[in-house]
Amino acid sequence: MNLPNLNEARKRTNNKVNEYQVDYHLPKVFAGKKYFLRTYGCQMNEHDSEEIRKYLELLGYTETKELIDSDIVVLNTCAIRENAHDKVFGYLGRCKHLKNEKPDLIIAIGGCMSQEETVVKEILNNHPYVDIVFGTHNIHELPKLILEKKKSQIVEVYSIEGNIYENIKYSRDSKISAWVNIMYGCDKFCTYCIVPYTRGKQRSRKLESILKEVQELKEAGYQEITLLGQNVNAYGKDLEEKVDFKTLLEETAKTNIPRIRFVTSHPWDFTAEMIEVIAKYDNIMPYVHLPLQSGSNRILKLMGRRYTKEEYIALFNKIKEKVKNVSITTDIIVGFPNESESDFQDTLDVVNKCKFDSAFTFIYSPRVGTPAAKMEDKIPIEEKNKRLQRLNELVNSYSLENNQKWLNKEVPVLVLGVNEKDQTKLYGYTDTMKLVNITGFDEDLIGKIINVKITEAKSFSLDGIVVKEGVLN
Ligand code: 5AD
Ligand code: SF4
Repeated sequence: MNLPNLNEARKRTNNKVNEYQVDYHLPKVFAGKKYFLRTYGCQMNEHDSEEIRKYLELLGYTETKELIDSDIVVLNTCAIRENAHDKVFGYLGRCKHLKNEKPDLIIAIGGCMSQEETVVKEILNNHPYVDIVFGTHNIHELPKLILEKKKSQIVEVYSIEGNIYENIKYSRDSKISAWVNIMYGCDKFCTYCIVPYTRGKQRSRKLESILKEVQELKEAGYQEITLLGQNVNAYGKDLEEKVDFKTLLEETAKTNIPRIRFVTSHPWDFTAEMIEVIAKYDNIMPYVHLPLQSGSNRILKLMGRRYTKEEYIALFNKIKEKVKNVSITTDIIVGFPNESESDFQDTLDVVNKCKFDSAFTFIYSPRVGTPAAKMEDKIPIEEKNKRLQRLNELVNSYSLENNQKWLNKEVPVLVLGVNEKDQTKLYGYTDTMKLVNITGFDEDLIGKIINVKITEAKSFSLDGIVVKEGVLN
């Protein structure tokens, strides 16, 4: 048994990151059995689930979307806020119930929650029906743990700075748009954030490995790739080879894959050269997710964000000025310990100045082991809730205002599939990452980039119709 340890996870010793190859020689011993995989949290987890799915399928399992039909349940969890925890423990109740009826059911928990000491202790003490706990550093060991499953619980979680596994195979969700990891972990240690502990040290993949993966995806017919990292702008800083995100973006653009996206950008590492490259290449999408977190210089300092409100706005304006039609979205936390009304007004002020295309807004949630969790906080939760509501109203009004600018215009949309709620419509995303529901059903358009005329603008989506002769690729 290997238990997680947050103190170990905090260490950064500059040791060389080792690169390993994953062994895919797995016996298909579970043929005829079904797996149920549930993913919580960010894109990184979504992508990890594509890796988990591959292992399960290589072992012979096939997917079921119904928990009740499953022979193995895998929960890929998120630790970013308390409500993510609550959801997982709530769902475990349903799994326990099913296991009472199906004693051979295997229950496995992975992802960021597994990296937390408190969570693993709680599972060991109160959830004995969970069979396997695995972490973010050893997803590739899941098949081994399943094959070894004993009568007692197996907890195999490492709190290491982290290695890199290359040659990972995925069972991808989409045949049109793919995630590509460019780096793992985070070294920023923003004081509220658990990610540097659950995901470990920043480890960048080699430029050539990333480009090889992009090339393969292009040859397999993918139209879009999203370069993925906790902080993509810091790409390469940990490598011996002299390479940065600007170079990676430019080299990726030269593969001529039709659409390139990237998430997430920290304002601190965003250089003028990166902005130039985004502006220069047509296949780099004019869309930047640029987390603000707070508009108050006092709070930004306490958060350890290393930029000021003024620097953020200057960067925002520079991106807007250089990249034609760019859309910029953000993340904002309200109610950081002792955030005053005047601090909050500073956040509203930045929103009023930047008029974001959209914003993900959160109430601060203390995470055990992070510096901010030790800060005294006198602001009542009712006040935080009110601030969140005020912020959301403002943010949504700007989303609508921005979306309305597209009314009656023709925009390029990559069609991803059939609209789940209305099967007579298709859906896709504009180059600026706006969701469009499209009238003019034609299955042949799925996977194509087409011109769509926008007929209605809402806060969170656009409606449009296919423009005749509008296929662009
Ligand atoms: N409480 C609330 N929100 C958080 N985020 C990260 N940590 C916390 C926390 N402890 C938010 C940040 C980040 C996004 C992914 O989640 O805004 O950008
Ligand atoms: Fe968390 Fe900050 Fe790293 Fe983002 S940059 S993952 S908020 S520590």
